[in-house]
Amino acid sequence: MKVPLLASVFSQQASPRLWLLAQRLIGGTPDKQAILRNQYQGEKRVVEIGCSIGNVARILLGQPDLSYLGLDIDEGALAFARQWYAKHPAFGFANRSFQDLAAEGAEFDLVCVTGVLHHVPDNVAQQMLDGARAVLAPSGRVLMFDPIPLRAGDGPVYGLIHRLEQGEYLRDPATLRAMMQKAGFIIDHEEEVAIGPGATSWPKIMSLSVMTGRAA
Ligand SMILES: C[S@@+](CC[C@H](N)C(=O)[O-])C[C@H]1O[C@@H](n2cnc3c(N)ncnc32)[C@H](O)[C@@H]1O
Repeated sequence: MKVPLLASVFSQQASPRLWLLAQRLIGGTPDKQAILRNQYQGEKRVVEIGCSIGNVARILLGQPDLSYLGLDIDEGALAFARQWYAKHPAFGFANRSFQDLAAEGAEFDLVCVTGVLHHVPDNVAQQMLDGARAVLAPSGRVLMFDPIPLRAGDGPVYGLIHRLEQGEYLRDPATLRAMMQKAGFIIDHEEEVAIGPGATSWPKIMSLSVMTGRAA
């Protein structure tokens, strides 16, 4: 059973501000930020697709000489992000694709495909990963994380969050790994991270497949 009313009130499209509150309280933003903090290795040019309002990228504020570009298709979320980051000119937000950026010859040291693949069908997800490869600098790294499907024994909290979650295209780690490899990445690191709701890291609400890689 879906939980449509609750999910629509707190949806990113209805209100980016309420969505941010929900992400902080029950959507796992602090634990997602921790994944980015743990995987970040001081890269200077960072791009993230599916950035939403920049809820995960906040963890990069204060990094020296960093320039960050967040990409999304939700103009409302991007407008909110621009206001939220108004005092941080090194952080930009745009409704653009990796392919647009690649056509201009743009290159990034860290390319993040984080929390977005489960929103798009296989052909779009593969294009996104191909695009991530196309904008990767020669010594750059890719970071991907995405929720994985419910498994037997995951428990009622996982089940509830999966009903609230809007993504329709959950994939298991083997499928995500194969898509990354097809895009031309070598996987250097892979793990599953069970994340908590927000204010606390317990109870666990979902498991993310986390991978980092580089150009093959
Ligand atoms: C659940 S939010 C993830 C936000 C953040 N990355 C996180 O993990 O908390 C997914 C985002 O992907 C965006 N999105 C969906 N399809 C997209 C596409 N084809 N290109 C760029 N962004 C897309 C949505 O608009 C939404 O902001």
